[in-house]
Amino acid sequence: MTSQNHSDPLISRRRAIRSFVLRQGRITLAQSKALEQLWPAYGLNFTGQILDLDSIFQRQAPRTLEIGFGDGESLVTVAAAHPERDYLGIEVHEPGVGHCLLAAQQAELKNLKVMRHDAVEVLKQSLKPNDLDEVLIYFPDPWPKTKHHKRRIIQTEFVQLLGTRIQALGRLRLATDWAPYADWMLDVLSTSDCFENAAADHRFVTRPAERPVTKFERRGLRLGHLSHDLEFIRKT
Ligand SMILES: C[S@@+](CC[C@H](N)C(=O)[O-])C[C@H]1O[C@@H](n2cnc3c(N)ncnc32)[C@H](O)[C@@H]1O
Repeated sequence: MTSQNHSDPLISRRRAIRSFVLRQGRITLAQSKALEQLWPAYGLNFTGQILDLDSIFQRQAPRTLEIGFGDGESLVTVAAAHPERDYLGIEVHEPGVGHCLLAAQQAELKNLKVMRHDAVEVLKQSLKPNDLDEVLIYFPDPWPKTKHHKRRIIQTEFVQLLGTRIQALGRLRLATDWAPYADWMLDVLSTSDCFENAAADHRFVTRPAERPVTKFERRGLRLGHLSHDLEFIRKT
């Protein structure tokens, strides 16, 4: 069962239309302990203030943001494979964040920080222009009903915001297994003056070999869904 938890202090009430519904999903004891014990090492609290990522990561390195990382397995895998980069993950689902912290500890990551907040607000309020080299949005909620399309995270205004936070020649990588959303993404991104398609015009890219299969993708594959990958480059 899903329910909107308006009393959660981590989620501000200002924005009426959000791309998520806070699920009260079951949290395991290990996840709950991880949230308590590993948060000082990996967690960043949302304060509404600008984050100084260079000082948080204690170096200047190319930075990847993953929005809606789910259980974080894919994020931890790529962060472990690229110690030369820094990774920021944003997810609102508490058990998923707990799971990610456990995986990060197991992989002994030094290049990952995690936030539990609405990514749209984090991008608007806490990240600086050109702060990011890469943004990953894998299998965002497809909101299939027409009346819910306004909840899809990929919207013209949001893409414009991403365009300000991603530096020139940085990459925006997306994937979805919901074909109508894949076309929606292509349409929205193709009309943006900030990005150009890394594939031919109005085409998807071949699935990147190093993108791990995510939990949500695995579920779609079992249902016979095909994944579509998109890659857009921030124009100079
Ligand atoms: C369909 S799931 C996919 C999770 C993961 N990427 C995967 O492929 O397994 C989408 C996730 O995005 C998160 N999400 C949606 N909108 C978000 C937002 N504005 N900020 C942070 N997380 C968000 C949801 O909580 C959910 O866990």
